[in-house]
Amino acid sequence: MSRLILALDVYERSRALKIARDTRDFLWGIKINWPLILGSGIGIIRELKEKTGLPIIADLKLADIPNTHRLIAKKVFEEGANYIITHGFVGRDSVKAVMELGETILVVEMSHPGAEEFIQPAADRLIDLANDLMPFGVIAPATRPERVRYIREKLSREIRILTPGVGAQGGRAKEALKAGADYIIVGRSIYSAENPREAARNLWGETNAEG
Ligand code: XMP
Repeated sequence: MSRLILALDVYERSRALKIARDTRDFLWGIKINWPLILGSGIGIIRELKEKTGLPIIADLKLADIPNTHRLIAKKVFEEGANYIITHGFVGRDSVKAVMELGETILVVEMSHPGAEEFIQPAADRLIDLANDLMPFGVIAPATRPERVRYIREKLSREIRILTPGVGAQGGRAKEALKAGADYIIVGRSIYSAENPREAARNLWGETNAEG
């Protein structure tokens, strides 16, 4: 069982497919973001899903009105995505529009330094929103394990916590998991490594080791 999600932020289809093939044994799922969709087209979702057999998370960080969320989510779920990441600060109607169409992951707090400006002060309300709507999961920052711990305490046990920010952004996999994360999300430390398979294997080992 893996708790590792690969953030496959490359442009090229062939490179994406190779990295996915090389690392899939150590992954729980693959997260794709705008770079890969813009570089390779929306069809990459189905291709990755069919070639790896893994769940695909579309990290679109939607932040729009309900109708636009509906239009986007319909297309992305039809293309095979298993989960969509959406912002919650746009309000519950916009989040519900995605949740009505498929499994949803809500951003509660982001991992970069600028997150302290606007989104961290709103985290309590975003946690309340998640507890009300019960999405599949929320995003919390591996760069701030104390915040992951805080979010875990306030969040319903049934909602998973997914934490980006491990590796290139300075977060540590073990710390995030110890703080209560269910999954860690890793991009550059795997796809930019000389040997992505080894990098994924090492992280997988780290996340499965006792203690
Ligand atoms: P790296 O290369 O930093 O990639 O390991 C991280 C991936 O995760 C995304 N990311 C976030 N997504 N909330 C999110 O919803 C966040 O706080 C956050 N931080 C990083 C990032 O876009 C990349 O795909």
